[in-house]
Amino acid sequence: MTVRLCHLDDLPDRGSRGFDPQAAGHDTVFLVRHGRQVWGWVNACPHYGTALAWRKNAYLNAAGDRIVCAAHGALFEVDTGKCTLGPCVGDSLTPVDLQIQEDGTIQMTAQPHSTTTS
Ligand code: FES
Repeated sequence: MTVRLCHLDDLPDRGSRGFDPQAAGHDTVFLVRHGRQVWGWVNACPHYGTALAWRKNAYLNAAGDRIVCAAHGALFEVDTGKCTLGPCVGDSLTPVDLQIQEDGTIQMTAQPHSTTTS
């Protein structure tokens, strides 16, 4: 099963955006884009399981090169999801499997991994 999340053009370069594909009432996954690379992550910090963003779609640091947990400041690599600083160093975010169609449509599938457009 796949769920359409958005179009590549809907994501700012070096930006992030949250989604609620299961209509949970809050964003349960988020995407990070660098150029034509997009990674998807479950919106749950490995420290306490809380949502990461401090406000809607704000998952990154000012440089746009690390994911930040707003609760206690953990930093995560955008491409691996690995925590490199903070209370959960060495732990990782849970990846979301993505498919990017030739027309730029980004879909979420059941299998976790990141992908690159062709
Ligand atoms: S809940 Fe994310 S760093 Fe503590």
